[in-house]
Amino acid sequence: MAVSSAPGKVYLFGEHAVVYGEPAVPCAIERRARVGVEQRSDNKLRIHAEDLSLDGFTVEYAGGANDRPDIDASESLLNAAMGYIDSAIEQVRDVTDEGDVGFDVTIESDIPLGAGLGSSAAVAVAAIDAGTRELGTTLETDELADRAYRTEHEVQSGQASRADTFCSATGGAVRVEGEDCRSLEAPDLPIVVGFDGGAGDTGKLVAGVRELRDEYGFAADTVDAIGDVVRNGEQALADGDVEELGRLMDFNHGLLSALGVSSRSLDSMVWAARDAGAHGAKLTGAGGGGCIVALDPTDETETALSYTPGCEDAFRAALAETGVERLE
Ligand code: PMV
Repeated sequence: MAVSSAPGKVYLFGEHAVVYGEPAVPCAIERRARVGVEQRSDNKLRIHAEDLSLDGFTVEYAGGANDRPDIDASESLLNAAMGYIDSAIEQVRDVTDEGDVGFDVTIESDIPLGAGLGSSAAVAVAAIDAGTRELGTTLETDELADRAYRTEHEVQSGQASRADTFCSATGGAVRVEGEDCRSLEAPDLPIVVGFDGGAGDTGKLVAGVRELRDEYGFAADTVDAIGDVVRNGEQALADGDVEELGRLMDFNHGLLSALGVSSRSLDSMVWAARDAGAHGAKLTGAGGGGCIVALDPTDETETALSYTPGCEDAFRAALAETGVERLE
């Protein structure tokens, strides 16, 4: 059996605008998905998943070359796990030219699903890495990121950027602009995450921004302005200026709000973080529900969030320096 883990991520800057060719800066966090893959003697796929929270998360089964997998998981877990794992296993078969091989796959994750923390990317990266190693091939990070991107792209019907999968495979802070993905120097950021227990519908939210952008010139300008915030944010990261990063995150959240992708609970958590003295706070990912990210070196934000109506969980998350980790 081979076991790999891969981290989730927060967007420091640039979600949604990245869809229109602007740069985005996600940052990997120490919340991980671990995937174990063991070759079977038949060609079946058996998925066992634990510890995943699944509120509001659905994904359609992508369909694989083999028989339908045996599933050892709850029904909602089945949807989430099966689509990504099935597609990731197709990538493993493609890399290794082993079309007929079957696997037992075990997933453990402490990343809330569909909440803007890149859970599916982490599962895809860890599954492809463990699966290929189980068959004797160790992929370079760039190829691993690319294969994981193809998995997300397939399962999410073409609605995926390279940001999540590249960030999860390499770790650290990264910059993604179209096809161009690279690592950035980043200080150890005081990241606090607030989670409202829910999830947004990425496809609908992306479509909503597209409609606004098509209808109003000022919405298109708002998307461009996010790009400018990201470019300033890159400079603040390079300077290690956490206060400036916070100010720019506040600005980014305001622009995302104007594009209609925030929600009452996300706004409440963002304001609770600001009131508690965080350097700045914004939603992370598609929005509509899910998580916010704040920068605060003190315990104040975490404490304030834990008393904020609508916040289900608040936790500190260290920057994950390492992307994929090979555990067994
Ligand atoms: O919620 P997440 O982590 O899937 O992020 C979505 C980010 C978007 O920019 C809204 C869409 C994308 O694919 O880049």
